Amino acid sequence: MEERQFLDFYTKHKIIPVAQEINQNHLSRRQYLYRTLGLNQYNNDSKIKILEIGPGTGDNAVATNKIFNSQITFIDGNQSSINAINQKIKNGILPIDTKIINYDFLDFSSKNILEDSKFHLVICEGTIPGQNKPKLFADKVLQFVAPDGRAVFTCADVFSLLPELLRRLWRPHLIKLEFKEAIKKGIEIFEPHLKNLPEMSRSYEDWVADQVLNTWAKRGWEFSVSDAIETAQKNDMFYLGSSPSFVEDWIWYKEALNTPNYYNQLALNEWENKKIFLLDKRLHPISKYDLREFNIIEFSNILNKIGNFVSDVTCDDDYEYSEKDFKYLDELISILIQIIQKSELSLFLEDTLKSIISFKRYWKNIYEGVNNKDEEDFQKWWGRGTVYLSFEKSRLIT
Ligand SMILES: C[S@@+](CC[C@H](N)C(=O)[O-])C[C@H]1O[C@@H](n2cnc3c(N)ncnc32)[C@H](O)[C@@H]1O
Repeated sequence: MEERQFLDFYTKHKIIPVAQEINQNHLSRRQYLYRTLGLNQYNNDSKIKILEIGPGTGDNAVATNKIFNSQITFIDGNQSSINAINQKIKNGILPIDTKIINYDFLDFSSKNILEDSKFHLVICEGTIPGQNKPKLFADKVLQFVAPDGRAVFTCADVFSLLPELLRRLWRPHLIKLEFKEAIKKGIEIFEPHLKNLPEMSRSYEDWVADQVLNTWAKRGWEFSVSDAIETAQKNDMFYLGSSPSFVEDWIWYKEALNTPNYYNQLALNEWENKKIFLLDKRLHPISKYDLREFNIIEFSNILNKIGNFVSDVTCDDDYEYSEKDFKYLDELISILIQIIQKSELSLFLEDTLKSIISFKRYWKNIYEGVNNKDEEDFQKWWGRGTVYLSFEKSRLIT
């Protein structure tokens, strides 16, 4: 039977590697996120019905419930998540009317929820990229949105996660260790990298378990912004907001076509023109960079080849590197460096280029299993990771 992404790994190790400390910073971050997604316009007189698929520890939902006057239903297939949420209800951290469904969402049918099969807001965060069939999963998520409802997805692809994918190349060495040892060794290796993320809100231990040791990176794991828009369009939903906010709309409203297609097309175009900025969180997006000057197709092809290589070597627990692997990735990284150097982007991507060159040296250490802490340029490189998107059902006002 095909491995169930996230569920099998989490269940095997009895973990939920996404814990957040519930404090003022956490609440403020979540408030900022929902505001950026255009989700602050609910009538507070009556409770909105929210469905969250894959809530993890439920720490995000605690903030959701404080921000919206809501009644939340959770679906999660990891018993540890169900226990964590039950504990929060018991301790009064989540309200007593919270509903919990312990189910693999892919096997779930709306009939399982009896009378409550549609929701004003459906949230599925950190759960779609990494599934065996992300688009199918997302399509199913949207089946639960009420006719006037909204949905929040997260997206990730090889543009947003490239440096993290490259860090995953440690997995063939780490996965051979006993789990706790692997985490300990992973923290030792990645501490100098993670220190470059001072605002990071999850523990190093959780990050190593989820990003490096987990098996989510099988070929086909990506769920890009364009995949999300395509899935939404199919379900008659249109773009509402995103974080980061990459859509600029300078059109005079009288000239705009207020159709779902307009919003989705606008978001898609903006996305295609700006996805390069996901590569590195140090990049300051130029409002209208014309990617036609840059061979984005050639660039994307190389990124996809690197992504496929990472998939192939980091999802098999018995994988052993060979010299052929070393040479193959070394060659791909050299091509990536050349593409950037010969384009006008080299100035704009100066720091990223330094980091890629640093990775090229570091790859030899990873391949040999040597923990070199000196490649600071690579350590500093983080992508924009996860992109949040919100959509709403098409509503015609008459
Ligand atoms: C990476 S965690 C994300 C948790 C949380 N949403 C967050 O962003 O911090 C993925 C969550 O989705 C759940 N999950 C993944 N696949 C699932 C499936 N097929 N059915 C139900 N839950 C699933 C996992 O148990 C876990 O709680």
